[in-house]
Amino acid sequence: MDLPGTFNFRGRSLLSWLDYTGAEIRSLLELSKRVKDEAKGGDIKERFKGKTLALLFEKRSTRTRCAFETAFGEEGGHPVFLSTADIQLGAKESLEDTARVLGRMFSAVQFRGFKQSTVETLARYSGVPVYNGLTDDFHPTQALADIMTLEENFGPCGGKKLCFVGDGRNNVARSLLVICSKLGVTFTVITPPFLNPDPALLERCLPLAAESGAAITLSGDLAAVEGAHAIYTDVWTSMGEEDKRAERRALLEPYQVNAALMEKTGRKETIFLHCLPAVKGEEVTAELIDGPASRVWDEAENRKHTIKAIMLATLGCL
Ligand code: CP
Ligand code: NVA
Repeated sequence: MDLPGTFNFRGRSLLSWLDYTGAEIRSLLELSKRVKDEAKGGDIKERFKGKTLALLFEKRSTRTRCAFETAFGEEGGHPVFLSTADIQLGAKESLEDTARVLGRMFSAVQFRGFKQSTVETLARYSGVPVYNGLTDDFHPTQALADIMTLEENFGPCGGKKLCFVGDGRNNVARSLLVICSKLGVTFTVITPPFLNPDPALLERCLPLAAESGAAITLSGDLAAVEGAHAIYTDVWTSMGEEDKRAERRALLEPYQVNAALMEKTGRKETIFLHCLPAVKGEEVTAELIDGPASRVWDEAENRKHTIKAIMLATLGCL
């Protein structure tokens, strides 16, 4: 399989989409579509044969772990799951030393956990591709699957309007902000001002948006969903922030995504997206997430195809 475009991804990590150009992300999206078509056609290959993947988890996961493990394993690779109960991650051994050892035994490393600096250190010292499977700051593999799902419904994402409604400072909103800025998507974060995305990240994204033609806006007003192709939300309290649950509920209750909000888009074909897991009845009604506008199961499936594409490209296994 050829890589769409003339890019060299071999040996690269994915820590956030800030390190990739819009054209590179586009190439990975096209590859993801091909990978999905192959899977649907029952075309099973062995492109990861002889490769190994360390899957490091400080936080829980269903989709991300299963996507990495099945995408890698079904093509002959050997994934190894390591939780903090199994491995020294800064305990008893420096993170740098753990990274050096992993780099001697594994072809690549996936990390899910708290600090972005941990995934950066793993990448710096392991010498192999490191994939960010979610940190407090970013969830880049999720964002690629989200854009793929948007495109499956509406074609090329440039100029399409995606609204994130909820905790605008969380990892999912931040990753969407970056990927939309790179790909020319009209991206609106609708959140109370207290939960606006980090101004420093916004400052990095605005010039990228100017270059790609993306329109990035922040609003506290639900009327800003007008014209949205997709409304996206995430949990009000992310992993590691459980002590903020009451405060978040108070702030975000008016921002629940429900049928009335979907109607405010003025479009009949608006879809609903959510990275999952969802707390039905909080950030989204059960009626909406389980109803006809919801694309969350396609979105979850697309995690696997996009993650496979990222690994194929960065491991040079095409
Ligand atoms: N969307 C997502 O990352 O799901 P998991 O937490 O189950 O991996
Ligand atoms: N923002 C959520 C995403 C889960 C996939 C969290 O970090 O818990």
